[in-house]
Amino acid sequence: MKVERMVDLSFKKLMEESEEKRGSNIILALDSVPSSESGNLLSVSLKILDEAHSYVCAVKLNRHLLLPLGLYDGVKRIVEKAHSLDLPVIMDCKINDIGYTNRVIAENYFNAGFDAVIANPFVGWEDGLQPVFEVAKEMNRGVILLVYMSHKASWEGYGQMIYDSKTGEKKPQYVAFAEKALAWNADGAVVGGTYPEKIREIYAILKEKVPIYSPGIGAQGGDVKAAVSSGARYLIIGRAITLARSPGEAARFFRDAARKS
Ligand code: XMP
Repeated sequence: MKVERMVDLSFKKLMEESEEKRGSNIILALDSVPSSESGNLLSVSLKILDEAHSYVCAVKLNRHLLLPLGLYDGVKRIVEKAHSLDLPVIMDCKINDIGYTNRVIAENYFNAGFDAVIANPFVGWEDGLQPVFEVAKEMNRGVILLVYMSHKASWEGYGQMIYDSKTGEKKPQYVAFAEKALAWNADGAVVGGTYPEKIREIYAILKEKVPIYSPGIGAQGGDVKAAVSSGARYLIIGRAITLARSPGEAARFFRDAARKS
């Protein structure tokens, strides 16, 4: 059942090499949905990957495929296909439970071949995300933290003002999460591409130490140039590629737009 990792690099390095080799900072969010015209979900997803793979540096999967296809079944086949194309694969399951459960979740994703997982820092370190970082280290995989999400209500949680009882300081939640990303040595931080001003502010904290992954480009209204010029290192794009008439052309369009930004 266990899948060996394709290379012996840290996830951060793996992404840097993939970005350089392919000349692309686009991550394909392979969020295919079943459609009566286009065949079954697995074959549709593999077809999109085939068409778009030359223009992206990684693939991200979510529950769109995990729930209907199953982790050790269809999803594992997609992970293997991405690896055969030399693309790292990220599981965007947003790990968000108690430590024991989080560890089991992460182990399963890593055993199915995923190179990194996305996790929610709201659950904290001790008996929260600590076991996820530990298992990632043992298996040489990555952990990417949510810092400011891309959707409209993100401000309600990630943007709320918090009071640090240790220092007496008040700060936005996302600033505290960016500080945790540094302190926990995360492999990446997710900041919505829909909020370039937040990318800029968070980049000023993370600098080059923790790369910013920005979803929300295209379908959610985020703009490639605004995100990249504000400090986003990788752009995560789903529907604007997966639902395009030609996913390959759409992926190439975003790759070229990011190169020019
Ligand atoms: P679209 O179709 O909007 O898909 O381009 C975006 C993909 O990324 C996921 N997503 C996020 N994942 N933090 C995340 O970890 C976020 O803030 C975020 N916003 C969007 C979304 O579920 C989809 O897979």
